[in-house]
Amino acid sequence: MRKPFVAGNWKMNTDSLTSVGLARAVADSTIDIAGETVDVAILPPFVYMCNVVGALSTSHIAVGGQDVYFEQKGAFTGEISAAMLKDAGCAYVLCGHSERRHVIKETDELINKKVSASISGGLLPILCVGELLDERKANKTGEVVKRQIERGLAGLSEEKMLAVTIAYEPVWAIGTGLNATPEQAQQVHSMIRILVEKLYNKHIAEEMRILYGGSVKADNAKLLMEQADIDGLLVGGASLKADEFIAIIKAAV
Ligand code: PGA
Repeated sequence: MRKPFVAGNWKMNTDSLTSVGLARAVADSTIDIAGETVDVAILPPFVYMCNVVGALSTSHIAVGGQDVYFEQKGAFTGEISAAMLKDAGCAYVLCGHSERRHVIKETDELINKKVSASISGGLLPILCVGELLDERKANKTGEVVKRQIERGLAGLSEEKMLAVTIAYEPVWAIGTGLNATPEQAQQVHSMIRILVEKLYNKHIAEEMRILYGGSVKADNAKLLMEQADIDGLLVGGASLKADEFIAIIKAAV
């Protein structure tokens, strides 16, 4: 049985005060379920990581990075290593979020190095995949997602693969208010699980959690979570409103 998993990606939002307030509000209202019936993670901006880890210290909500660099240390100005994230109290890290792929122009090869380095550094990577609107219109969703997964996971051993979560986030649904219907999402999630079984084995495919992301709100969370292969939600905009994010977490239980 896969435990539901809800992650809130704050992106480049909040400040030192609001990050702590938001984290505390979420922790206070989910104290009886977070870490028990649903895994919850908050992914704040790097600079507020320690504040948020402190604010969540008495809760079972995990913290994660929104990105990571694959080198262990050295002259990589502006970058953050997996070891640093781990040291700061992170358990998870996003790799290949669509904004990194399409705004910062990260390649599948770079993302693959990040996934691998994250696991070596003791983090649980969340590999994000998803097609652009033009790719969906051209019926290329399966092809694009397959390529992103094959390249993103290239060279990863079965043991390392057990640390991976995949997030399917159709790019056209992120921050747009449009979201994939539960059926559209389920179709891609099921395809991903079958692909992982082919690349690895049935056990890994059945254990692996696949999150859906893209305009998730309190009022669509339940229907999405009812789909057989949707194991959790990666939430952007709605994770910045305590009440909305709390309702999403509760809907995922
Ligand atoms: P959204 O973002 O919920 O604001 O669409 C999701 C994401 O980018 O992870």
